[in-house]
Amino acid sequence: MNLNANDHRRQARRRLPRFAFDYVDGGAEDERCLRRNCDDLAALHLLPQVLRDTRNADTSITVFGQRWTMPSGIAPIGFAGLVRPHGDLLLARAAAAEGVPFVLSTASNDRLEAVRAAGLERNPQAQQWLQLYVMSDRAIAEQLVRRARSAGFGALVLTVDVAVSGMRERDVRNGFKLPFRFTPSTLFDLATHPAWSLSMASQGRLPSFVNLSETEGGGNSAQLQAAMLARSMDRTLVWEQLDWLRRLWDGPLILKGLLHPADAERAARSGVDGIVVSNHGGRQLDAAPSTISVLPRIVDAVAGRMPVFVDSGFRRGSDVVKALACGATAAFVGRAAVWGMASGAEAGCRGVLATLRDEIARTMILIGADATGDISAGHLPARSLPQGDSLV
Ligand code: FNR
Repeated sequence: MNLNANDHRRQARRRLPRFAFDYVDGGAEDERCLRRNCDDLAALHLLPQVLRDTRNADTSITVFGQRWTMPSGIAPIGFAGLVRPHGDLLLARAAAAEGVPFVLSTASNDRLEAVRAAGLERNPQAQQWLQLYVMSDRAIAEQLVRRARSAGFGALVLTVDVAVSGMRERDVRNGFKLPFRFTPSTLFDLATHPAWSLSMASQGRLPSFVNLSETEGGGNSAQLQAAMLARSMDRTLVWEQLDWLRRLWDGPLILKGLLHPADAERAARSGVDGIVVSNHGGRQLDAAPSTISVLPRIVDAVAGRMPVFVDSGFRRGSDVVKALACGATAAFVGRAAVWGMASGAEAGCRGVLATLRDEIARTMILIGADATGDISAGHLPARSLPQGDSLV
């Protein structure tokens, strides 16, 4: 029975070959950051207030003039096509149908124009944002941004925590790398997960980073694309050059992957339109603090100048409510959405999102909040934030 995101995770584990499940599930090095995200959320409590009128329990929020049915959405997931054929389309449709935003990864496997169309099919108001990795060849990013603008993507999310890829040791141990090579252990893995193997075989090839190859003029092998993603991030991209993106993109510009209050303050001064407090779900710097532990300091630094989004470790509606109590505008989910897509395609992912919304509503009623705007620091017990992670 799938009552929560972890139930979907268990099903995903059964359905996916080990290398694919571990690609989604794993984190960097000892996976301390991965665990810290969830542990610190669990350690934070909500203090209920009683005898309040909660007849509406309205979970919706408005961001950049658009209504979301709840303060959450789907974070960018690269290589979603490894989970199911056209994984990006499945995630985009589920998000649109549930009335929450979907952030498409640069490392996606479905054309961004097709993703836009898939979302609009489900909901004419679908909110879709494009996540951008800037590689050494900046012309690639420039073309992606232009295509996103003509396709109607509503915001650009520049990921800033992948100057180099984190060391995901599960992937190395599983022999999972691109281009994909068959080894005795991957062959065994495939043979013992026939549903996944057949669905991939029906496509005739493994998913590739179509948005990159198309942007480059086509014809690129998966090998070249993988090399590009793994090694060629532009490490010379600095704050002063955000103007370059500003000139290309006149919609909302969001920075994803900040953890330091000074960076948040600088982002607000640089005129970006929002930030995502993120440690990439524990997949990059294993020594990084949990996002919930740094969130209050960041909210203070931003001082209401722009929305502060957060992700990493969010599995339950109560986790999302905790983020709002710490001052966040919304909390995105990454793995939880993918587990739903893995277990039941579009319907599975919709199930995860619908459950999250039910959990948010129930938590709101239980703490005495009738609207998301009623959730405040007053719902946090004094000194309840995890100790030891406070910054400088
Ligand atoms: C990611 N994440 C990510 N982020 C990004 O900016 N671009 C990307 O291409 C990817 N790809 C990606 C793949 C997979 C399999 C995962 C699990 C994550 C990070 C993602 O957007 C988000 O920050 C985290 O997933 C949030 O943590 P949880 O919700 O997964 O714990």
